[in-house]
This record gives sequence, C-alpha cells and structure tokens, in this order.
Amino acid sequence: MNADKIAQIKAGMAYEGSRKAPPEGFPALPVIPPRRYTDADFYQLELTHVWRKSWIFAIHGDEVPERGSFIRWNLMGEPLLFVRGNDDVIRCFYNTCRHRGAPVATAERGNADGFVCGYHGWTYSLTGDLVNLRDKRDFVGLDTNCRSLIPVRCESIGRYVFINLDSNGMTLAEYLGQAGVTLNEHRADDLRLVDRKAYHIKSNVKVVLEAFLEVYHIKSIHADTVDRFLDHRGTVINLWPNGHSQMITPRRAERADWVDPGTIGLPLMESADEIVKTTTMQTFFYPNMAMAWADAGSPAMVFWPTGVNTSICEVLWFAPSWGDGPRPAVWDTRFRNFERILMEDVQFQEDIQHSLESHGYRGSTLNYQERRIYQWHEEADRRIGDAVPAQMRVEPVLEPFIERD
Ligand code: FES
Ligand SMILES: [Fe+2]
Repeated sequence: MNADKIAQIKAGMAYEGSRKAPPEGFPALPVIPPRRYTDADFYQLELTHVWRKSWIFAIHGDEVPERGSFIRWNLMGEPLLFVRGNDDVIRCFYNTCRHRGAPVATAERGNADGFVCGYHGWTYSLTGDLVNLRDKRDFVGLDTNCRSLIPVRCESIGRYVFINLDSNGMTLAEYLGQAGVTLNEHRADDLRLVDRKAYHIKSNVKVVLEAFLEVYHIKSIHADTVDRFLDHRGTVINLWPNGHSQMITPRRAERADWVDPGTIGLPLMESADEIVKTTTMQTFFYPNMAMAWADAGSPAMVFWPTGVNTSICEVLWFAPSWGDGPRPAVWDTRFRNFERILMEDVQFQEDIQHSLESHGYRGSTLNYQERRIYQWHEEADRRIGDAVPAQMRVEPVLEPFIERD
C-alpha cells in the first residue's frame, strides 16, 4: 500500500470516528426479507447462480506439497480431487471415473504416480488423461482421448488455489479485482498454511458470514476481548465490484503499542505496512472468505453452505515460515485465543436461524456500518436476476458507493 493510500485510510478512520450521522446521501438500507435465509428454492438459486459461478478459495499449495500429492475435497458439495502434476501445476478434477463413476482416489490425501480406479481398473495420469483400461477389446469404438477426468477451472494467486465450477466467465484476477491485488500484496507466494479447522454451525451460511462483515457487534459480544483493543466507530469500509469488500478498524488510541501475546517470537511478514500493523484490516472475497491480515500470520474464515439451515465455518491460518522445525508452541495459545473470539461470534447463530424461521421475524434492519451485508445480498440478486421472487428481492441501492477504478 503506498503512502497516499495509507494517508487516505487514516483520514477515513478519523472521519468515521467523528461523524454524527452516515455521510450525506447514504440511503436507509431496505429491510432484508427473512425468507432469503430459510427458503429451499432461494437456497438453490444461490447455489446455482452465486456459489457455482464464483471463483472460490479451495486449498492452499501446502495441502498438495509435492509432485504427485493429491487431496480429495468436497466443500462445494461435489466430489473433487486436487493434484499437483509433475510440472508443479495444481489441477482440479471430479474424483469420478469416466467408466461408471467410482472415485479414482479413495484415500483422503496422499501421493501417487496416477490414479487406478478401484472398481475395474481404469487408469488416469496426474493430468487426468485416461492412460490404460482393461479389456479394451470389449468396448466398441471407445475414444480414450474423450474419457479424461472432468476438469474444474482452477487458478492460483501465489499459493492460494481457487476453483470455479462454471467453465465460462471471467478469469480469477478479473473476478477478484482489488481483493486479488490485496491477496497478492501479502506474500501470496510464500506464506505457509499453519492450520485448517472446520466448525459445523446450525444456521444458513449467510447468518454465519454476516457476523464477519461488520464490527457493530464488537461492544456487545466481544466486550472482554476484541473491544478492549479495537475502536469500531472508526471503521473504514471499501465496497468493490463483484461483491468483494474491505473493512479496516483502528486500534484504540490507548492500545497503539499493543502486541498480541500469542504472536511474540513469531517471524513477521515484512510486507506488512503501517495499516496492517496498527489496525485490523479484513478483506472479503465474495461470496465466502474473510481474511484478517496480521504480520505474524493471518486467519481466514471461509464459509460453506451445507443446507438451507446448516453451514460450515472454516478457520485457516497463513503465516511466514518458522523454518524446518516443529510449529512454535505459541501458535497453540494463538489458536485458543482466536477460538474464544470465534465462539463469541457464532454464539447466537442457531437461535437467529430459529428467529428467521419464525412468524415473529419481519426482516433485518441494517445500518451504515452493516452495509457490507447489504452488498452481499444485492450482489446475489444481481447474479440471480429475474428468478428472485419479487417478495424476496433486495432493492439495489449501493451502486453509487462501489469503488471502481
Ligand atoms: S468405475 Fe472406474 S473402472 Fe469402472
Ligand atoms: Fe466478531
């Protein structure tokens, strides 16, 4: 981030901290209809038009560390397989044999020269080509070139691997725009994956992810944790095209020199600028990843729909390498501290889902600080288009506030 940008953010935080009302011209955000969180048909529309047509972060390069490393992956509800080829390129395929659909990789992860289907022995290379099959004489006119594993679009920024289940549409860099630039600026090519953990939550995925799109809740649910060092009223928000956004929350003035005790002694990301060092800067990659940048390693929350009223929240940590030895013990402290905050964040989600399903809920009333939530819904409707039932639509009002360069 250059000096002008840093100065602009600091001025923005000062402005936000001192304003008496939303900026001139900012609209009252229309109420979000509750059925968007409870309706099975709307859930399917979101899966089809949002989730299955987005570039989605899937794995980090460390999960397939060597040539021939593979990992099965199904967080998008499809049986997928990532494999690092002998050319070091990470590819993604359906883990589905072209003969009759058995999985070609049965272990959850491992290392292989290729994949031999366990059912009848069809054999595939690391690049997904069908290279051998038993009793070829019995197949009439079979063109093995047309029986490769079905590929999934897969592109990377540094070691972050994204997929898109839609075979058409823009590239990853075009889709992510400024969010992708930000990812790249933070040593995307050499941060290591420290940990990846999943939490199952009994609510619609939006109920969960919305807790990470605002800091209005800090004074209530994080009174003994985050609120002690962050000043939520100074938060600067940037809304970007395609649903992406950023939120920068200043540290409390009296905590300017505070250092997270869970990070003491860890190697630091030299690329971290003044903003990363002195604020909580969080970038949201639409539709489902929130990365909170920190110089001693950044946590990312990634959210997955598993049903209308169930979801998964994953926490991943990316950090500068500590060398070849075992993971420094301080990481355990850090995970523990973070999990405590996460449990504060998700404590109400199941009850909120019950409210949304009840007759007593008339819709969500959002304020200026919560505008990233409204942006999420507005972007979903933009993509779903006319298929959104009239009574479930959110009116588009944020376009004048989206930053396009
Ligand atoms: S299903 Fe794979 S070889 Fe038959
Ligand atoms: Fe929170």
